[in-house]
This record gives sequence, C-alpha cells and structure tokens, in this order.
Amino acid sequence: MTPDDFRATAHDLLQFIDASPTAAHAVAEVGRRLETAGFQRLREADAWQLAPGGRYFIVRGHTSVIAAIIGSEPLPAAGFRIAGAHVDAPGLRLKPNAPYAANGYVQLGVEVYGGPLLASWTDRDLTLAGRLHLKDAGGGLRTVLVRGDRPLCRIPQLAIHFNREVNDKGLVLNKQQHLPPICGLGAKEAFDPRSVSTLLAEQAGLDANEVVAADLEVVDLQPATFGGLDEEFIFAARIDNLAGTHAVLNALLRVGDPPAATCVAALFDSEEVGSQTLAGAGSRFMDVTLERIAVRDGASREDWHRSLARSLLVSVDGAHAVHPNFADFHDPQHRPLLNGGPVIKINAQQRYATSPETAHWFEQCAERGGVPVQRYVHRTDLACGSTIGPMTATRLGVPTIDVGSPMLSMHSIRETGGVLDQESMVRALREHYVG
Ligand code: CO
Repeated sequence: MTPDDFRATAHDLLQFIDASPTAAHAVAEVGRRLETAGFQRLREADAWQLAPGGRYFIVRGHTSVIAAIIGSEPLPAAGFRIAGAHVDAPGLRLKPNAPYAANGYVQLGVEVYGGPLLASWTDRDLTLAGRLHLKDAGGGLRTVLVRGDRPLCRIPQLAIHFNREVNDKGLVLNKQQHLPPICGLGAKEAFDPRSVSTLLAEQAGLDANEVVAADLEVVDLQPATFGGLDEEFIFAARIDNLAGTHAVLNALLRVGDPPAATCVAALFDSEEVGSQTLAGAGSRFMDVTLERIAVRDGASREDWHRSLARSLLVSVDGAHAVHPNFADFHDPQHRPLLNGGPVIKINAQQRYATSPETAHWFEQCAERGGVPVQRYVHRTDLACGSTIGPMTATRLGVPTIDVGSPMLSMHSIRETGGVLDQESMVRALREHYVG
C-alpha cells in the first residue's frame, strides 16, 4: 500500500502533467501555483525591491522561470541553495505553413524537437497545444495559451502487410516523410491552410483574424494515471522532466519560515535541444537573476562572488531505472529501481556534475528527509546522456549534483515512473533548501 502522503504527491504530479502539455503551459502552471502561495511576480525590465523572507519569481520568454525565497542570513554568509530542472520535453512541432492537402488527406508538416522515441508517437490520439500570438490594441503582441480538447490528429502506422520485417528490424521513420500527422480529409481546392490556428483560436474564444503567429506542438491526449496491480506506477507523458520540475517547485513551496540561505528554483526550457537559447540553462538568465538578488542594498560584487562560493546546486532530471527486459543495458552494480528513491548520477566524463562532496551533501539531505537514495552510472561502453547540471556548474562555478527519479521509456510519448519517488524527491530537495 502506498502511504497517503506519497500517493497525494504523485496524484498532484499527474494533475501538473495534465495541466502542462507544453513548456509554456508548464511555466504558466508553475506561475499560478507560486502566486497562490504568495510569490510576487517580478519583471526583468523593472527595478526590484527585495526583502529578506520575500518570495518572488521571474519568467523569461514564456518558457523558463526562476523563483526565489530571500534568506534571512546575509548572502555572503549563507549563500544560495539552488535546485534546477528542465520543463521542455521532446516532441513534434508544427512548421509555420503546417497544413497541406495530399492524396485526399489534410496533413500537418512537423519538425522534430529534441530526441523523441519516434515510433511511440504513432497510432496515438494526438491533439495540438501551444501559443497563439495576437495583435493587441497597443500595436504589440499578446500571447495566449491554447490546447485542443479532443483528438485532432494521428500518425498512422503502415500496415504490416507492406512492411513484413517491421517486428524484426524495428519501425524506421523518415522524419520528413513519415511523421506528418493526418488531421482531416479534403480536396486541395476546398482546404483552408489557416484552419488549424483558426480552430484553436475559436475554441479559446479568440478572434482568429487577430492571430499573427502560432507556436503549436503535437501532444498526446491521454491523461496521466496510476498503474500496476497495486498502483505502484505512474503512466504519463513528459515525466522527463515535469517530474523534476514539480519536485523542485514543491520543495520550494514547502520551505516554511524564511530559511537562512536564499532558496532558488530554476526551471529552464530548451534542455532537449542543448540549452543554448534565450532562456535555456546555457543563457545568462540564472546568473543575472542571482546577481541582481546578491548585489541589492549596496552589496558589492565581491559579496556576490562570496555568495556563489557558499552556494550549492541540485540539478534534477529523469534517471534510468533498470528495464526488466533489457537489464543488460545497465551496469550490473548500478541498476536503479522504481520506487527506490532519488538516483545520484555519476559520470567520469562529467556528463553529470556530481562530485564526491556534492553526492555526500545530497545523501545527507535524503537521510534527513527519511528517504533512500540510489546510484547510477551508464554502462562504460555506451554514450551517456547529459542534463543542465554540468552547464550550470560551469556557468556559475557552484558545486553541483545531478540527481533524478528512476523512470522507464525516457523520451517515449508515454513514460513510466514510480508512485513513491515523487514525494521522496520532494523531501530530499526540501532538506537541500533548509538543511
Ligand atoms: Co530530461
């Protein structure tokens, strides 16, 4: 039986995932939850008045957000306690002139974002979600989040009768040729290429004529759910890395009285495409934001650098649980289990930022939080993935640890996690903030 508080946290994660079909939706949901908890939204272009104990957040580019609780101790003495995660997920994005008619079908041209397991996107009930940009009265643009509320499209597999070797050789998909979903039937002459954004605009109660641009993605419509004989699993889209995002957010929301250190939650877009974007982890968003917090009230640049030297960063991203049908893909001594607690990720090539000292720090956090930890290294003969940890450690010069909850099917349209691991991660991260 899952203890009620662990189940409640996992259930809240399912709701968070369902509210967040795209990174922009996730950041809006994070902002909504922060405001409900009394955090004040700041804008980068404004002058900031920050007070000890104050709770603030800043959004950049609709898809990255940094939230902070200003600590009670001077920053050069207590430093920053930072937890970071990425909010984006691999998938398919609509091209600018997406809809076209061919062979009696209406289809949507798509580009691949990041590294999705493409075969998992076939034969799913798909819809569209993202942002519409509309002309506003002042001559600028306003952005509205939209999402389809019913299945709008599908990527049908080719019947096995045309591809007799598919079960032995795997489904090979050409990204240009084989991915465009079908979304309707119709002759070329009768087809309105604006039909997709018009449909979403009208569904959202907007004037479709005011739409000047759209950022739309193809997303799965199936809600996140518990699964397994004892409901020990969660089955959902985008567990990588909305689970990390949700854990970082909730750990921050559980920081009670003003903590000694200044606690920061940094949630970034663009990790799946290398983070080198306006608001990605490779941008100056975090260092500029931390510096503005550090040098307020006449504090010097020396104070800012002393503050960094006192700081610690935990980077949270999905970790590979051992797959029972492919167990040999794991090192025999490092096979994380679902519901086994947060995984500390280690890599000699520094694809993960973990050091012995930072690993020890996180182990202590987990112990104080009463949760177990596991360890992961990739098989030596396979190339290891990476995440925002090494990049933020390099940029900031802050000792960093890479951790994540164990999961299966990373980058599938439908991933699998453990019901206990979300609460375990939140407890360990809270101790990182307040310990
Ligand atoms: Co990830």
